[in-house]
Amino acid sequence: MLDPQSVPNALPSAVAPNALGAFWMPFTANKAFKAHPRLLARAEGMYYFTPGGEPILDGTAGLWCVNAGHARSEITAAIREQAGVMDFAPTFNLAHPLAFAAASKLALMFPAGLDHVFFTNSGSEAVDTALKIALAYQKAIGQGTRTRLIGRERGYHGTGFGGISVGGIVNNRRAFGSLGGVDHLRHTHLPENAFSIGQPAHGADLADDLERMVALHGAETIAAVIVEPLAGSTGVLVPPVGYLERLRDIATRHGIVLIFDEVITAFGRLGSATAADHFGVRPDLIACAKGLTNATVPMGAVVAANHIHAAIVDAGPAGIELFHGYTYSAHPLACAAAIATLDLYVADGLFGRAAALAPHFAAAVHALRGHRHVVDIRSLGLVAGIELAPRDGAPGVRATELFQRAFDSGLLVRVTGETIALSPPLIISEAQIDEIFGRIGIILDDLG
Ligand SMILES: Cc1ncc(COP(=O)(O)O)c(C=O)c1O
Repeated sequence: MLDPQSVPNALPSAVAPNALGAFWMPFTANKAFKAHPRLLARAEGMYYFTPGGEPILDGTAGLWCVNAGHARSEITAAIREQAGVMDFAPTFNLAHPLAFAAASKLALMFPAGLDHVFFTNSGSEAVDTALKIALAYQKAIGQGTRTRLIGRERGYHGTGFGGISVGGIVNNRRAFGSLGGVDHLRHTHLPENAFSIGQPAHGADLADDLERMVALHGAETIAAVIVEPLAGSTGVLVPPVGYLERLRDIATRHGIVLIFDEVITAFGRLGSATAADHFGVRPDLIACAKGLTNATVPMGAVVAANHIHAAIVDAGPAGIELFHGYTYSAHPLACAAAIATLDLYVADGLFGRAAALAPHFAAAVHALRGHRHVVDIRSLGLVAGIELAPRDGAPGVRATELFQRAFDSGLLVRVTGETIALSPPLIISEAQIDEIFGRIGIILDDLG
């Protein structure tokens, strides 16, 4: 056994309790943050509260995830109760009842024909799981030459190696490299669509880029194409009218598995359970996370079409059909949280509420057109992006400054590049929508 006395510096004596150094923060400018920390201590409904008790109106549902609003007692009570009943149970060759109940509830909520659920612990794991299921499916149906994965420029699919490879954000790959055998469709952001309300008119033909991939690589090499139906993290890019339908059609014609990454669009963001429902386009696999548990306990999932599950599981050989899984797949606390969350969405009619609020939300954000620095506004459902002109030689700084000023004035927004992104909890009121965009307008006009 290790004797701490015998190992010099075994205990990190340089670390003081509550010092800021030990926590290596994700996707954060650590040095800048620690020079000027912003802390959140409590949350309830539409608000965070700082350690000093100052309220912060949550315009982003945390990180696109607290769709039912903060600290919902229906969910927190279910988690508390489950923690006292059974803390953990393995789901490798064993299971517990909540795992089946959570999977059934999720499958019922998602599009008909996608009836099988593989649980993960995050969106990144859901994406990598979906990519692996697509590859396993092609192999299972005798299409083992199909190993190529197609993503899209400006796509964000989390931070696993699969996700950063099919993702279209160079900074997320620069220090690490990426998987081979991956290519990317063009993104769907067209200047002629600036200030579109809802789905932009131009760009359905960008889906033909998948035909270009087929011509370039051969359909027999392509396993799957993955897109966010609405791209969030690279600035709220709404799909052009007809784009997703066309992508579905091309994928079907060439035997390519279509994966929707719905990590931010599922659970009401666009006014329906899924973006697939909203757009009326059914993919073969849906990756989701975040709103699945209202972000109370980490959980993600892949929801698979029946033909995919049948090919891998029903028609598979005896023994383990898919060599994949996580210790915490279907963790009991996450399952309790998911069941309570999905019930709450239904009981409170939150997806319908988001759909009903969407016109007011769109009018409020588009009223910012004409304010200083605003070069484009994009919105759909309860998600919006306000793109600002960059400062000369200082990309992203203006938007970051707006974020800081908003936070200091008690409003949480999100910055992605030059875009301010809003995705509030679905419980938001019309008055709170007006407050968010009214405050942003004031800050914009005062910003250098
Ligand atoms: C579309 C999309 N996919 C995947 C992820 C990764 O999810 P996680 O951070 O839970 O791994 C995100 C996170 O924002 C996302 O927006």
